[in-house]
Amino acid sequence: MVKIEIFDRIERLAERVSDLLARQLEVSPDSRMGLATGATMVPIYEEMVRHVQQNRLNLSGVRTFNLDEYVGLGESDAGSFRRFMRMNLFQPSKMSPGQSFFPWPDFAPEFAAYDDFIDTSGGIDWQILGIGRNGHIGFNEPLTPWNSKTHEVILTDDTRYANRQAFEGDWRKVPTKAVTMGIETIFRARTIILVALGNQKRAILAQALHGPVSPEVPASILQEHSRAIVLCDRAAGSLLDK
Ligand code: GLP
Repeated sequence: MVKIEIFDRIERLAERVSDLLARQLEVSPDSRMGLATGATMVPIYEEMVRHVQQNRLNLSGVRTFNLDEYVGLGESDAGSFRRFMRMNLFQPSKMSPGQSFFPWPDFAPEFAAYDDFIDTSGGIDWQILGIGRNGHIGFNEPLTPWNSKTHEVILTDDTRYANRQAFEGDWRKVPTKAVTMGIETIFRARTIILVALGNQKRAILAQALHGPVSPEVPASILQEHSRAIVLCDRAAGSLLDK
Protein backbone atom coordinates (compact mmCIF):
# COMPACT_ATOMS: atom_id res chain seq x y z
CA MET A 1 0.00 0.00 0.00
CA VAL A 2 1.42 3.34 -1.02
CA LYS A 3 1.28 6.04 1.62
CA ILE A 4 0.29 9.40 0.13
CA GLU A 5 1.05 12.78 1.69
CA ILE A 6 -0.16 16.01 0.10
CA PHE A 7 1.40 19.38 0.95
CA ASP A 8 0.23 22.97 0.52
CA ARG A 9 3.74 24.27 0.41
CA ILE A 10 6.75 22.84 -1.35
CA GLU A 11 9.00 23.97 1.52
CA ARG A 12 7.06 21.73 3.91
CA LEU A 13 7.24 18.83 1.47
CA ALA A 14 10.99 19.24 1.08
CA GLU A 15 11.39 19.43 4.85
CA ARG A 16 9.44 16.20 5.21
CA VAL A 17 11.79 14.44 2.77
CA SER A 18 14.82 15.59 4.78
CA ASP A 19 13.14 14.48 8.01
CA LEU A 20 12.40 11.04 6.56
CA LEU A 21 16.03 10.78 5.49
CA ALA A 22 17.28 11.97 8.88
CA ARG A 23 15.22 9.22 10.51
CA GLN A 24 16.76 6.63 8.18
CA LEU A 25 20.28 7.92 8.96
CA GLU A 26 19.64 7.84 12.69
CA VAL A 27 19.12 4.09 12.39
CA SER A 28 21.88 3.54 9.77
CA PRO A 29 24.32 6.43 9.27
CA ASP A 30 26.03 4.42 6.52
CA SER A 31 22.85 3.97 4.46
CA ARG A 32 22.95 3.49 0.72
CA MET A 33 20.84 6.16 -0.95
CA GLY A 34 19.39 6.02 -4.46
CA LEU A 35 19.19 9.49 -5.98
CA ALA A 36 17.19 11.12 -8.77
CA THR A 37 17.68 14.21 -10.89
CA GLY A 38 15.21 16.57 -12.60
CA ALA A 39 13.59 19.88 -11.74
CA THR A 40 11.52 18.28 -8.96
CA MET A 41 14.68 17.41 -7.06
CA VAL A 42 16.09 20.95 -6.97
CA PRO A 43 14.04 22.18 -3.97
CA ILE A 44 14.38 18.76 -2.32
CA TYR A 45 18.19 18.86 -2.42
CA GLU A 46 18.20 22.53 -1.45
CA GLU A 47 16.42 21.61 1.77
CA MET A 48 18.72 18.61 2.36
CA VAL A 49 21.71 20.93 2.07
CA ARG A 50 20.09 23.29 4.57
CA HIS A 51 19.55 20.37 6.95
CA VAL A 52 23.22 19.40 6.57
CA GLN A 53 24.33 22.97 7.27
CA GLN A 54 22.12 23.05 10.37
CA ASN A 55 23.57 19.71 11.53
CA ARG A 56 20.15 18.08 11.30
CA LEU A 57 21.40 15.68 8.64
CA ASN A 58 24.78 14.00 8.38
CA LEU A 59 25.63 12.63 4.94
CA SER A 60 29.27 11.88 5.73
CA GLY A 61 28.72 8.12 6.03
CA VAL A 62 26.32 7.49 3.16
CA ARG A 63 27.00 6.10 -0.28
CA THR A 64 24.84 7.31 -3.14
CA PHE A 65 23.79 5.60 -6.35
CA ASN A 66 22.21 7.72 -9.03
CA LEU A 67 19.34 6.35 -11.05
CA ASP A 68 20.60 7.30 -14.46
CA GLU A 69 23.00 9.29 -16.63
CA TYR A 70 23.12 10.38 -20.25
CA VAL A 71 25.58 8.55 -22.48
CA GLY A 72 28.34 10.69 -23.94
CA LEU A 73 28.41 13.72 -21.66
CA GLY A 74 31.47 14.74 -19.67
CA GLU A 75 31.04 15.19 -15.92
CA SER A 76 31.26 18.96 -16.31
CA ASP A 77 28.85 19.23 -19.25
CA ALA A 78 25.85 21.37 -18.43
CA GLY A 79 23.20 18.67 -18.83
CA SER A 80 25.05 15.80 -17.19
CA PHE A 81 23.46 14.34 -14.08
CA ARG A 82 26.90 14.09 -12.45
CA ARG A 83 27.15 17.85 -12.71
CA PHE A 84 23.56 18.32 -11.50
CA MET A 85 24.28 16.24 -8.41
CA ARG A 86 27.59 17.97 -7.73
CA MET A 87 26.02 21.42 -7.95
CA ASN A 88 22.77 20.68 -6.13
CA LEU A 89 23.82 18.28 -3.40
CA PHE A 90 27.33 16.85 -3.27
CA GLN A 91 29.42 20.02 -3.19
CA PRO A 92 27.19 22.19 -1.00
CA SER A 93 26.81 19.36 1.52
CA LYS A 94 30.58 18.72 1.39
CA MET A 95 30.34 15.09 0.39
CA SER A 96 33.48 13.54 -1.01
CA PRO A 97 33.62 12.27 -4.62
CA GLY A 98 34.29 8.69 -3.46
CA GLN A 99 30.83 8.49 -1.90
CA SER A 100 28.86 8.64 -5.12
CA PHE A 101 28.27 6.30 -8.04
CA PHE A 102 26.64 6.59 -11.45
CA PRO A 103 25.74 3.84 -13.92
CA TRP A 104 27.56 5.59 -16.74
CA PRO A 105 30.43 5.74 -17.61
CA ASP A 106 31.77 3.68 -14.66
CA PHE A 107 29.88 0.49 -15.46
CA ALA A 108 30.03 0.51 -19.27
CA PRO A 109 29.52 -1.72 -21.14
CA GLU A 110 28.17 -4.31 -18.65
CA PHE A 111 25.56 -2.10 -17.07
CA ALA A 112 23.95 -4.91 -15.06
CA ALA A 113 27.23 -4.85 -13.08
CA TYR A 114 25.81 -1.70 -11.45
CA ASP A 115 23.10 -3.90 -9.90
CA ASP A 116 25.74 -6.35 -8.62
CA PHE A 117 27.76 -3.46 -7.23
CA ILE A 118 24.67 -2.10 -5.45
CA ASP A 119 23.94 -5.58 -4.05
CA THR A 120 27.47 -6.14 -2.78
CA SER A 121 27.40 -2.65 -1.24
CA GLY A 122 24.41 -3.81 0.82
CA GLY A 123 21.48 -2.75 -1.39
CA ILE A 124 19.70 0.57 -1.52
CA ASP A 125 18.03 1.53 1.76
CA TRP A 126 16.38 4.75 0.71
CA GLN A 127 15.50 5.66 -2.87
CA ILE A 128 14.14 9.02 -3.96
CA LEU A 129 12.28 9.18 -7.28
CA GLY A 130 10.57 11.67 -9.54
CA ILE A 131 8.05 10.70 -12.18
CA GLY A 132 7.95 11.49 -15.89
CA ARG A 133 4.72 12.67 -17.49
CA ASN A 134 4.25 9.26 -19.08
CA GLY A 135 4.87 7.50 -15.77
CA HIS A 136 8.53 6.74 -16.34
CA ILE A 137 10.85 6.28 -13.38
CA GLY A 138 14.55 6.76 -13.95
CA PHE A 139 14.56 6.50 -17.73
CA ASN A 140 12.36 3.42 -17.78
CA GLU A 141 9.78 4.25 -20.41
CA PRO A 142 6.38 2.52 -20.62
CA LEU A 143 6.61 -1.21 -21.37
CA THR A 144 10.03 -1.64 -19.75
CA PRO A 145 9.93 -5.17 -18.25
CA TRP A 146 9.43 -5.39 -14.50
CA ASN A 147 12.51 -7.58 -14.18
CA SER A 148 14.86 -5.11 -15.91
CA LYS A 149 18.24 -4.36 -14.41
CA THR A 150 20.47 -1.39 -15.20
CA HIS A 151 20.52 -1.00 -18.98
CA GLU A 152 21.03 1.40 -21.84
CA VAL A 153 17.99 3.11 -23.36
CA ILE A 154 17.26 5.15 -26.46
CA LEU A 155 15.37 8.21 -25.25
CA THR A 156 12.06 9.08 -26.89
CA ASP A 157 11.73 12.54 -28.42
CA ASP A 158 9.07 13.30 -25.78
CA THR A 159 11.47 12.56 -22.94
CA ARG A 160 14.23 14.54 -24.62
CA TYR A 161 11.80 17.43 -24.99
CA ALA A 162 10.79 17.22 -21.31
CA ASN A 163 14.47 17.38 -20.32
CA ARG A 164 15.48 20.21 -22.66
CA GLN A 165 15.82 22.82 -19.92
CA ALA A 166 19.34 21.77 -18.98
CA PHE A 167 20.34 21.95 -22.67
CA GLU A 168 19.70 25.61 -23.39
CA GLY A 169 16.05 24.77 -23.97
CA ASP A 170 16.90 22.92 -27.19
CA TRP A 171 15.61 19.34 -27.12
CA ARG A 172 17.85 18.36 -30.05
CA LYS A 173 20.85 18.94 -27.78
CA VAL A 174 19.54 16.35 -25.29
CA PRO A 175 21.53 13.13 -25.81
CA THR A 176 19.69 10.29 -27.51
CA LYS A 177 20.95 7.60 -25.15
CA ALA A 178 21.09 7.10 -21.40
CA VAL A 179 21.80 4.35 -18.90
CA THR A 180 19.21 3.81 -16.21
CA MET A 181 18.62 1.51 -13.26
CA GLY A 182 15.95 -0.98 -14.28
CA ILE A 183 12.54 -1.36 -12.68
CA GLU A 184 13.80 -4.32 -10.65
CA THR A 185 16.84 -2.33 -9.50
CA ILE A 186 14.54 0.42 -8.23
CA PHE A 187 11.97 -1.93 -6.73
CA ARG A 188 14.60 -3.67 -4.62
CA ALA A 189 15.16 -0.48 -2.59
CA ARG A 190 13.90 -0.95 0.97
CA THR A 191 12.15 2.42 1.12
CA ILE A 192 11.00 4.38 -1.93
CA ILE A 193 10.01 8.05 -1.75
CA LEU A 194 8.40 9.44 -4.91
CA VAL A 195 7.97 13.19 -5.25
CA ALA A 196 5.58 14.78 -7.79
CA LEU A 197 4.97 18.49 -8.23
CA GLY A 198 2.65 20.51 -10.45
CA ASN A 199 -0.36 20.11 -12.76
CA GLN A 200 1.63 18.27 -15.38
CA LYS A 201 2.01 15.29 -13.06
CA ARG A 202 -1.64 15.20 -11.91
CA ALA A 203 -3.09 12.72 -14.43
CA ILE A 204 -0.16 10.32 -14.45
CA LEU A 205 0.12 10.29 -10.66
CA ALA A 206 -3.52 9.24 -10.31
CA GLN A 207 -3.05 6.58 -12.98
CA ALA A 208 0.12 5.28 -11.34
CA LEU A 209 -1.39 5.07 -7.86
CA HIS A 210 -5.03 4.17 -8.55
CA GLY A 211 -4.89 2.53 -11.99
CA PRO A 212 -3.85 -1.03 -12.82
CA VAL A 213 -0.32 -2.14 -11.96
CA SER A 214 1.09 -2.45 -15.45
CA PRO A 215 4.36 -1.91 -17.34
CA GLU A 216 2.38 0.64 -19.37
CA VAL A 217 2.83 2.93 -16.35
CA PRO A 218 6.25 2.11 -14.86
CA ALA A 219 5.56 4.02 -11.62
CA SER A 220 2.50 1.82 -10.94
CA ILE A 221 4.95 -0.82 -9.62
CA LEU A 222 5.06 1.24 -6.43
CA GLN A 223 1.62 -0.14 -5.56
CA GLU A 224 3.31 -3.50 -5.01
CA HIS A 225 6.11 -2.15 -2.82
CA SER A 226 5.99 -2.71 0.93
CA ARG A 227 7.34 0.71 1.83
CA ALA A 228 6.57 3.36 -0.76
CA ILE A 229 5.67 6.92 0.18
CA VAL A 230 4.42 9.48 -2.32
CA LEU A 231 4.82 13.15 -1.43
CA CYS A 232 3.11 15.63 -3.72
CA ASP A 233 1.82 19.16 -3.84
CA ARG A 234 -1.89 20.02 -4.16
CA ALA A 235 -1.62 20.43 -7.93
CA ALA A 236 -0.09 17.00 -8.56
CA GLY A 237 -2.33 15.37 -5.96
CA SER A 238 -5.66 16.85 -7.01
CA LEU A 239 -6.95 13.68 -8.72
CA LEU A 240 -5.92 11.32 -5.92
CA ASP A 241 -8.53 9.63 -3.74
CA LYS A 242 -8.93 11.40 -0.47
C1 GLP B 1 13.91 12.55 -16.18
C2 GLP B 1 14.66 11.75 -15.13
C3 GLP B 1 13.72 11.21 -14.10
C4 GLP B 1 12.81 12.33 -13.58
C5 GLP B 1 11.97 12.85 -14.71
C6 GLP B 1 11.02 13.98 -14.28
O1 GLP B 1 13.43 11.77 -17.20
N1 GLP B 1 15.41 10.67 -15.69
O2 GLP B 1 14.47 10.64 -13.04
O3 GLP B 1 11.99 11.84 -12.56
O4 GLP B 1 12.84 13.36 -15.70
O5 GLP B 1 11.72 15.17 -14.22
P1 GLP B 1 11.20 16.54 -13.63
O6 GLP B 1 11.36 16.43 -12.16
O7 GLP B 1 12.10 17.57 -14.26
O8 GLP B 1 9.77 16.67 -14.04
